[in-house]
Amino acid sequence: MSETAFQPRVFSGIQPSGDLHLGNYLGALKRFVTMQDQGIETIYCMVDLHAITVWQDPTDLRNATRELAAGFIAAGLDPEKSILFNQSQVPEHAQLAWIFNCVARMGWMQRMTQWKDKAGKNAQNASLGLFAYPSLMAADILIYHATHVPVGDDQKQHLELTRDIAMKFNHDYKVDFFPVTEPVIEGAATRVMSLRDGSKKMSKSDPSAASRINMTDDADTIAKKIRKAKTDPEALPSEAKGLEERPEARNLVNIYAALSETSVDDVLRDVGGKQFSEFKPMLSELAVEKLAPISGEMARLMQDTSEIDAILHRGSERARAIAAPILEQTYEIVGMVR
Ligand code: AMP
Ligand code: TRP
Repeated sequence: MSETAFQPRVFSGIQPSGDLHLGNYLGALKRFVTMQDQGIETIYCMVDLHAITVWQDPTDLRNATRELAAGFIAAGLDPEKSILFNQSQVPEHAQLAWIFNCVARMGWMQRMTQWKDKAGKNAQNASLGLFAYPSLMAADILIYHATHVPVGDDQKQHLELTRDIAMKFNHDYKVDFFPVTEPVIEGAATRVMSLRDGSKKMSKSDPSAASRINMTDDADTIAKKIRKAKTDPEALPSEAKGLEERPEARNLVNIYAALSETSVDDVLRDVGGKQFSEFKPMLSELAVEKLAPISGEMARLMQDTSEIDAILHRGSERARAIAAPILEQTYEIVGMVR
């Protein structure tokens, strides 16, 4: 199927569970802003229905959804240019997800590494929603006929499954209805690693607060976490090749490159030969310079949550205007009497 039949449209989502961290910012949010500013239609969602696949305290969930919205806006997403909303206000996501539950196969879901990691040894006790999570994610994207999805590297497998669902639906119903979506996984920081362990990704669920930089951390906390970040005793190399066997060093250089919007090679041209004792303060200064204005703006926005709620509500109306006719056509194709 040719993807050119569909007008370019960007969709992505982040879960309102826990705090936004540097991995979310560099792997996803910062790139959402870039795509918005390229003049493509952009739709960004706080996926609250995904968040409850694991237990969320209701008060915390409501707060996290608003804080995530504040983070989106503070990072540069403009509610006039982009459609910003929370998933549960657009019921078409869950409605399409049911149809996709009947298209996707059990075996496809069982292969998902995020399912295996999150359910772990206790899969019998995991929620059914956690298992079906990728089917809802496919619905998030395809209910808008989105063609491009910016995400971090950890979502690649879910996007492949989204493509499989679109292709199986089109094949089974002999239509050319859903686009085969392109993942957009690019930049120097598609996989930001834990500051404590270069083999683990930076994650909201890591019990160690020192493993991640949160968007709401103040300057001292950022500097302290970077100072304590695990490294090795060698000086920095002058070329990217010299980082191959040095995951912690590579992570810090990747973060520096992504924050300063340059390449790893350019960074190493400047800092090659320096010790971490010299590089870490440079990285802290850069991180504070980029993150402090965002956290300041988030705090300001959170003072008036009614404004945030109004933005999300308006966004959901714009989103529904796109989603509702696509759901109707889907029901038509599937054979539901309307
Ligand atoms: P989540 O917090 O799991 O909802 O993730 C939201 C977005 O942030 C997704 O696009 C993820 O791929 C991205 N993301 C999460 N953690 C990282 C990380 N450590 N490095 C890069 N991107 C990440
Ligand atoms: N699964 C994504 C994550 O955990 C969040 C997400 C839900 C998403 N629906 C989406 C991302 C649709 C992109 C497109 O990071």
